[in-house]
This record gives sequence, structure tokens and C-alpha cells, in this order.
Amino acid sequence: MIVLGIETSCDECSAAVVRDGHEIMSNVIATQIELHKPYQGVVPELASRLHTEWIQQVVEASLHQAGITNKDLDAVAVTSRPGLLGSLLVGVSFAKCYASALSIPFIGIDHIRAHLYASQIETPLEYPYLGVLVSGGHTVICRVDDYDKVEVLGTTIDDAIGEAFDKVAKFYDLGFPGGVVIDRLSQKGDPTAFLFPGPSLDGDEHRYDMSYSGLKTAVINQKEQFRKKGADDTPENIAASFQRQAVGILMKRVRLALHDTGLKRVSAGGGVAANSLLRSELKALEKSGYTVTFPSLKLCTDNGAMVAGLGYRYLKDGIISDSHLSASARVNAFKKN
Ligand code: KG4
Ligand code: ZN
Repeated sequence: MIVLGIETSCDECSAAVVRDGHEIMSNVIATQIELHKPYQGVVPELASRLHTEWIQQVVEASLHQAGITNKDLDAVAVTSRPGLLGSLLVGVSFAKCYASALSIPFIGIDHIRAHLYASQIETPLEYPYLGVLVSGGHTVICRVDDYDKVEVLGTTIDDAIGEAFDKVAKFYDLGFPGGVVIDRLSQKGDPTAFLFPGPSLDGDEHRYDMSYSGLKTAVINQKEQFRKKGADDTPENIAASFQRQAVGILMKRVRLALHDTGLKRVSAGGGVAANSLLRSELKALEKSGYTVTFPSLKLCTDNGAMVAGLGYRYLKDGIISDSHLSASARVNAFKKN
């Protein structure tokens, strides 16, 4: 079965063709990064306008690269929540019309579940496993029992991890998108130059929760308080020290959740799963007997392939959306239990 996956929830306009849920025949990602760069952040109105202008061409390019025509498609899957409402609406409206014109099913996909599913396309991992979803909008540690069965164990109580990377980079004018720049600068910095604090979240209800606003504030407003004697105040040192603590906060919770749940497998997803330090720290868990997977770099950040991949699973189980499904900016099926 061949599924077209469309992703327009934020600033990537993407369409991909995936056969039988694992063979990526094409994955076209038209990024708007350059156009949002002057504002050092994503401008929602600009994002939705660009999606409207680009979507048709991006879908056509994905079919062309896959060497098929739209007559070969069995379904159209599209990110329907959560994200920027105006941007989501472009993808959802397009997908609905496209599927209806071809008389094939249309499947609305939750962006968070798609990120969590992305690694399954390339490296199938047996369920259950601990899911680590880290992106610009979300920081979630969860138990994943099936492609559609996700129990949230912990989440951030304030900023998302990717948001913290972006805000620190923006404050110090390091470049956009922040995570990529901080990752790169960190390679040349001393991660112990600044000993930035982590959160102290007490109580059982916060056992797996995280917080990033304190770290962000310390890096932005109070960095001198945390500078080690003799350490240089350079962008590289700030980046490396921040990254070390940002990843440290997450890894502490991941280790605790693994210990408590007894799960032996871990899989990460989302834009921050592209971070080199996080990847090496997760990989290091293999020395303790865990199996660890994460998507290749292209499948970490927003892309249509993860949408098509998850769409295939729904299609196979006969779960399709009706034409009344609309876009939603909110996370509604992903509350902490
Ligand atoms: O998954 P994604 O493309 O969009 C959301 O669903 O949010 O993630 C984007 C986020 C941004 O915050 C970006 O700074 C971050 O992922 N990111 C990284 C890296 N590459 C992207 N963060 C840290 N290290 C990276 N290498
Ligand atoms: Zn995303």
C-alpha cells in the first residue's frame, strides 16, 4: 500500500511517499527557515501563506521523485494536530480535497505520535518501549505500547527543551534555528565553563517531569553567577554548558523512568533527537543492556515520511478519518494520565 504523507504543522512544508510503512520512496522537505530567519523565530502568518503557495508543488515533487502518479496512491495522511492552526489548516484542507478527488481514504495524524513513530520506519523496535519525544513544542517521556497506545509519564512543566535551545540562541544572537547552532558551537566549547543549575522538582507527581525555564533564565540573565573561575565567557562555552545541562535534565528523567518501569528499549524522536550530545548519551545506555533507536537526522525534524509511515499503520487497521475532521492547534489526545 502506498501512502502520501503531508506535514505543514510549523515551518516545514513536506510531502512524502511511503510504501508499506517502511519504504521511503520520496521525502520532500521545503523548509521555510531562510524566510523566518530575519525574525529569529517562526512567524505564523508567514508560515501559513508560504504553505499555501508551496503545497501543490511539494506534493507533485514527492510523487515525481517516487516515480508514481497520484493514481497509485492508496491513502493520504496529514498532520491534523497539534501545531500552528493556520499552517495545519493548509495541509488538512489540501489533503482532504486531494483524497476526495482520488476517492481514497484520508487520515488525520497526531504530530507527536508521528515523531514518536519516525524511528520505527527505519529501525523497527519491538513494543513496549520508553518513548522520548523532544522537539520545539514538546518534551515528553512516555511508555509506548503500540503505534497508537502511548501513556505519558512525564513532561515539561514550562518550556519545551527545543524552545530553550531556540530562546538561548536568540538571546545571544547565535543564529536560527537555535538547536542546530548550539549543537555546532558546543563542539568547540567547554561544557563545564558554566555550571548552570537544573530544576528541583519534588514530589511523586513530578517524578518524571522536567523544567527548562529556570535553566533558560540562568543562561540568559544570570550567567556570571555560574561561571567557573578562570573560564572564558565565549559563545562556545555558553552553548556547551547550556547543552550539557539541557540534555542532563532529560537524561536524569529517562534513567529514572527506565529504572522504575523496567522497560528495556528506548526510542527518541523530534527535532532535538538530532542533538549530538543527546544521541551519544542515549546510545551509551546500550552499555547497560538497553536497546536504543532514534531516527536518522532527516526524520528527526518535521517531515512527511513519519506522517505517511504512521498513516499506513492506521490504514492497515482500517482506521480512517471522516471529512469533518479539522485541524487543531491543541494537544488533545496526549494528556498526562
Ligand atoms: O520536531 P521539530 O522539527 O518541530 C517541532 O515539532 O517542534 O523540532 C524543532 C526543534 C527546534 O527547537 C530546533 O532548535 C530543535 O528542534 N533542533 C535541535 C537540533 N536540531 C533541531 N535541538 C538541539 N540540537 C539539534 N541538533
Ligand atoms: Zn515536529
